[in-house]
This record gives sequence, C-alpha cells and structure tokens, in this order.
Amino acid sequence: MSDKVRIAIIGAGAVSDFHHVPGINVDPRAELVAVCDPNEALLAQREKDWGPVKTTTDVQVIADDKEIDAVIIATPNFTHKEITLACLAGGKHVMCEKPLGLCFADAAEMYRAARDRDLRHMTAFTYRFAPSMRFLRDLVHSGKLGEPRHFRSQRFLDLPETSWGWRQYKDKAGAGDLFDMTIHRIDFAQDLIGPIKSVCGAIAQFTPRDVTEDGQSCPPSEVDDWSSLIGRFENGAVGVWEGSTVMKGHHNNGIGFEWAEVNGSEGSAVYQLTDPNVILVGKYGGSMEKVPIPEEHLVIPGSPRDPHAGEPSTVFRYDLVWEFVSAIVEGRDAIPGFDHGASAQFIADAVLESNEKRTWVDIDYDLG
Ligand SMILES: NC(=O)c1ccc[n+]([C@@H]2O[C@H](COP(=O)([O-])OP(=O)(O)OC[C@H]3O[C@@H](n4cnc5c(N)ncnc54)[C@H](O)[C@@H]3O)[C@@H](O)[C@H]2O)c1
Repeated sequence: MSDKVRIAIIGAGAVSDFHHVPGINVDPRAELVAVCDPNEALLAQREKDWGPVKTTTDVQVIADDKEIDAVIIATPNFTHKEITLACLAGGKHVMCEKPLGLCFADAAEMYRAARDRDLRHMTAFTYRFAPSMRFLRDLVHSGKLGEPRHFRSQRFLDLPETSWGWRQYKDKAGAGDLFDMTIHRIDFAQDLIGPIKSVCGAIAQFTPRDVTEDGQSCPPSEVDDWSSLIGRFENGAVGVWEGSTVMKGHHNNGIGFEWAEVNGSEGSAVYQLTDPNVILVGKYGGSMEKVPIPEEHLVIPGSPRDPHAGEPSTVFRYDLVWEFVSAIVEGRDAIPGFDHGASAQFIADAVLESNEKRTWVDIDYDLG
C-alpha cells in the first residue's frame, strides 16, 4: 500500500507530456504509476521519457487496477465521457481535459457519475492557474476594481493551416477553436464575474485544412477556426470573447497571444498569458501600469514548485495536479470541477446554437 496518490495517465500525447506529467513530478504526494494509450510506439517512448510505469493499451485495465487511485484523462474529446465513466466505476478520482464531452449532456452525465460516487472530479481548465489570472480574481472578488462591468478576452494562435488531425472533425472534437480555446475563457470569465445568463455567438472557418503536415490529402475540416460571443452575466456585467487558431504573426514561440481584462466601476486589470507573472492595472483618470504579481501568488498555495524555475507561461500549468491531489488528500471538491466543465460546455453549445439560429440564447441548465 502506497502512501502516495497513485496516478495513471490516459492519453500519452502532447498535453500529458507538456504539463500533466511534470505536474505529477513536482508533487511529492503524487506518483505516476501507469500510462494508457492505444499507440504502442508512443507507450514505449513514454516509458523511456517518464520513467518505469505500467503500460497498457486498454482503459479497462486502468479502471480495474486496485493499485491506481486517480487518473488524468488527456485523450481526444470524443473519448472523454466513456473513459471517465469507466474509471469512476472503478473507483478512481478523475481529472479530465476540456472540453469534458462533445456536448452539455455528456458533461452533465460525467458530473453526476462522479458526484454520486463521491469521487473527486476536476476539469483541466489550465488558465485559472496562471498567477496573473489568480491575482486578477483576487482584485475582482475583493472589490478593488469596484463593480465588475465588462469582461473581454482574445486568444489568438498562429497554427499551420495543415490538418489538425482529430481536432478538425465534429464527431471527434465537437467544435474547433470554440471547444479547444474559447471554452477556457468562458470558464474563467464565470469564475471572475459570475454566471453568464445569455449569449449571442458566431463562428467561422477560414481554411479547409485538407492536407496533412507531410503533404497527404485528407478529408477537409468541419470545424471553426474562429469563435466569438458576446454575453450578459447575471450580475449585469457584459462580456466579449474572441479566439482564432490561424492569426498570422501571433505565434510568440508557440504561446500565441492572450489578453483578458475586467473593467470595473473603480478600475481595470488585464491578464496576459505571454507575461503571466505581471498584471496591468489602471484607475480612473490614469493609465494601465504593469504591476508584478506578489511572490505569494506566483504558485498555488502549498505547492513546493519553484515559481522562478522554467518558462513562466508553461510552469503554472503544473499546479493543476497540485489542486487535484490536494482535493484527494483533503477529501474536498477540486476546483474547477466537472460542474464548471459542464457549465462552460452548455455556454459553448449555446454559441453554436446562436450561430445557427442567428439569435441570442438563454443559459438555463440543470445538472440533474
Ligand atoms: N488544458 C489545456 O490547456 C489543454 C492543452 C492541450 C490539449 N488539451 C486537451 O487534451 C486532450 C488531448 O489533447 P492532446 O493535444 O494531448 O492530443 P494528442 O492527440 O497529442 O494526444 C491524445 C493521445 O490520446 C491517445 N488516445 C486516443 N484514444 C485513446 C483512448 N481511447 N484511450 C487512451 N488514449 C487514447 C492518442 O493515441 C494520443 O496519444 C484534448 O481533449 C484537448 O482538448 C488541453
């Protein structure tokens, strides 16, 4: 019997390597014990990269393994629900990547399954963990900006226009930029300002992506390259969101461009992913000024991670695992949970509905 939280990674692709496994490695309470992926060559590579672990191509083996306490699911979107339900049935705590499912009904079912078994559940909404985002939240919630009136976010990536793999097919991804990128911003806007009550959305596709990186032709993309919405929050504030994956010149060494601001009755503040240890703050009659994030906010409370080691726009992502493991060892809800994932999913679905019907859509859901 281990005194550590024994974690399995399901889906050994890009995001697991980028921050979930490094997150486990900086948490002394956690241990990576197993990896599951259908790609056997990748499994062999990960065993070399990540150290000695059990490997399997079969999710059910992970779900049934009594020596695994928790799983991190980082597979293509269409597999999230089935894998989550199997792992919850096997008694595992689950952190699942966003979007939780292909639609709200999937996400709500995942939430109910975790809640009804009293297991910890977490949606990997990464940007909530950026130091400047957490500091912005403190400024808004402590009233330092006055009444929040307006939220605005922009997330631009400069990705190649070749095939996006599974990400460009509706049955595998659900939607494009909207479910990949804008859904994070829907989530953190609600975390900052409160529930959204209605939205008007629009999406567009700019490029067919019918050629793979190595020049082979492939079925064209079915999803959006640009997603946007305007929305009204229950507290009277308004919001504007925009994201795109093909904005030239916004590459920034892969980080892209991200800006999110809250404008309140007393002041304004801005989070930027490219500079996550600094916030811009402005007051009436003044100008926006850079303020360094106080040392105690640079890392999630309790984590031994050195906030000055590594690339700032990468390393805060390791804190997701800290939150997930803290929730497990403390026996409390992880934040953001599947309920937050389902809420953002309902709103993202509403953006698609709004775009199709060319009308505003009310946000009114029941998690059951
Ligand atoms: N939170 C974030 O910031 C963030 C960033 C990137 C990706 N993501 C999300 O993470 C997920 C994975 O994205 P990625 O970029 O790592 O994709 P990826 O394509 O690089 O990796 C996905 C992996 O899952 C494996 N896989 C496919 N079906 C599987 C199954 N049934 N069981 C086990 N493994 C399976 C694939 O072989 C692949 O290795 C997506 O849902 C994506 O939206 C989130």
